[in-house]
Amino acid sequence: MEAKDTLILGIESSCDETAAAVIRNGRQVLSNVIASQIDLHKLYGGVVPEIASRKHIEKINQVIEEALAEAKITLDDLDAIAVTYGPGLVGALLVGVAEAKAICFAKNKPLVGVHHIEGHVSANYIEHPDLEPPFLCLIVSGGHTHLVLVKEYGVYEIIGQTRDDAVGEAFDKVARAIGLGYPGGPKIDKLAKEGNADAIRFPKAKIEGSPFDFSFSGVKSAVLNHINGCKMKGEPIVEADIAASFQKAVTDVLVERTIKAAKEYHMDVVALAGGVASNSALRNAMELACKKAGLRLCYPSPIYCTDNGAMIGVAGYYEYINGTRHSWDLNAVPNLKIGQR
Ligand code: KG4
Ligand code: ZN
Repeated sequence: MEAKDTLILGIESSCDETAAAVIRNGRQVLSNVIASQIDLHKLYGGVVPEIASRKHIEKINQVIEEALAEAKITLDDLDAIAVTYGPGLVGALLVGVAEAKAICFAKNKPLVGVHHIEGHVSANYIEHPDLEPPFLCLIVSGGHTHLVLVKEYGVYEIIGQTRDDAVGEAFDKVARAIGLGYPGGPKIDKLAKEGNADAIRFPKAKIEGSPFDFSFSGVKSAVLNHINGCKMKGEPIVEADIAASFQKAVTDVLVERTIKAAKEYHMDVVALAGGVASNSALRNAMELACKKAGLRLCYPSPIYCTDNGAMIGVAGYYEYINGTRHSWDLNAVPNLKIGQR
């Protein structure tokens, strides 16, 4: 380890992944350990907050120990501890925040609270070493759908967002309706490959006067209506066609609005972030549209798209070098806004 290296431990526990990672100099991942609770929550068809918190408590020490061991460092080598403090499930967030505070207190290290979504955006820095702000980022996760201008490290301007369901939420609900189970996004992605995306015309909502906002509750209801209609008419329900047509309706809207925003705000680079950024149809459609519009497109590998500690370590590094330090009164903030400090 070079003397000048900056080492950050990133801790993430906002939803159903207990995760920790060690990041060197902001962009190199020395370790990235994720304990997923998906199998546990699958039984209930979605994340059960109380169970998530308990599981985080069980797993967090082990996950951090593994992350340090894999990076071949100890807590003493760290420059700071970065932790997600919002948005997310309050009980789940509290586990990570309390853990980070305990380590910082015991080892006399700086504590840096990180915004979960800013973490998702920062995941793009890991595999694109030359990517720097400004760029436009489409954030599509289970709880969030935002179009954001990343003006500088840690400086964000929201130019559009969903008025109702997040994209990932719509994927999960539609998946449940066609019997695919939780989490639905990856399952729809897979099934859609066998279906006809033009089989059913689902609505693509526009918000009057807000060209960069989104709404996904309409398309979700349209899928449910379609299924009910088939049942009532005794027609077959073709799950693969529903998955492909739903996915197309959603990705068309995401791509169209992102390209329009990039042009309007004179951005040359577009990035994708969040769990749904690993959707193959979204990546392909965005790739084509960006190529046509002469824009560079970046997105993280799937492992850095869904919740992980590395993205928190990266975002935490930029916060740390910008001077952000949190004190012992750092609390979990379930509805923390982007850019809020
Ligand atoms: O970012 P994330 O791990 O957690 C949140 O911060 O919400 O995103 C999880 C969401 C879930 O809704 C999941 O269904 C969705 O991302 N997702 C996908 C894919 N992989 C994960 N949605 C569509 N296609 C995928 N391949
Ligand atoms: Zn997330």
